[in-house]
Amino acid sequence: MAADYDTIAQQYKKSKELPFRLHIETYTYLNLLGDVTGKSILDLACGEGFYSRELKRKGATRVVGVEISEKMIELATQEEAREPLGVEYILSDVLELGKIGSFDLVVASYLLNYCQTPEQALKICQNIFANLKPGGRFVTINNNSEQPPASYLLTKKYGFIKSIDRPLQEGTPIQYTISVDTDKFSFYNYYLSKSTYEWALQSAGFKEVRWQKPLVSPQGVEEFGQEFWQVFLEYAPIIFIECS
Ligand SMILES: C[S@@+](CC[C@H](N)C(=O)[O-])C[C@H]1O[C@@H](n2cnc3c(N)ncnc32)[C@H](O)[C@@H]1O
Repeated sequence: MAADYDTIAQQYKKSKELPFRLHIETYTYLNLLGDVTGKSILDLACGEGFYSRELKRKGATRVVGVEISEKMIELATQEEAREPLGVEYILSDVLELGKIGSFDLVVASYLLNYCQTPEQALKICQNIFANLKPGGRFVTINNNSEQPPASYLLTKKYGFIKSIDRPLQEGTPIQYTISVDTDKFSFYNYYLSKSTYEWALQSAGFKEVRWQKPLVSPQGVEEFGQEFWQVFLEYAPIIFIECS
């Protein structure tokens, strides 16, 4: 799986300040996660630890972050040194992770969209399932495969666009370009269809797979107005999945 975040780690961290991150991404994700007090959580593709820290602050007893990029883990470790929360970080490819424990929750914000083939998705889902306690849940944020490409440029007002250079089919690269202030950077995700994700999750053992569209926080509506978020809600560039 190709995901070289070493060169864009700092820029990616900064992009967490964009309004849609707080008012849609974080809001919907934390809503789905519910009360994490007393829970053990495995945060896959944890990046620089944005959600790992958030979940620990919200009362999780143990949070383990797994990440493939050394630079991202370095930023996460720096934050841990600055504000010690007790988050543990492991440098590893989730494809190669295997079982490292038995967690109440496995979370991943933007991991499955790095799978380039159905087989990779299956392997990752098996590794997710293996690290859950019986009855545990997997909650994730993902590129929304169902967003019509004709709407890819409409999200510019939120600070990002997507582009493709060939029709969408299993493995098609989708370039994300994010702008924060005057800075711009890009990275690739890969398209897999919704039915492929469902197949991978169910084949790995998940009984229920629920899809959740983005929601806007009341604070986001108050600050920016409902109208501002309309394009995001209508075309849903990202999607949330809850599996049990
Ligand atoms: C879009 S970033 C999201 C980071 C973090 N979850 C967040 O929301 O701030 C995606 C992250 O997934 C990591 N990643 C991609 N494929 C991975 C893999 N196979 N194993 C571990 N990490 C992976 C990348 O290095 C990158 O840090």
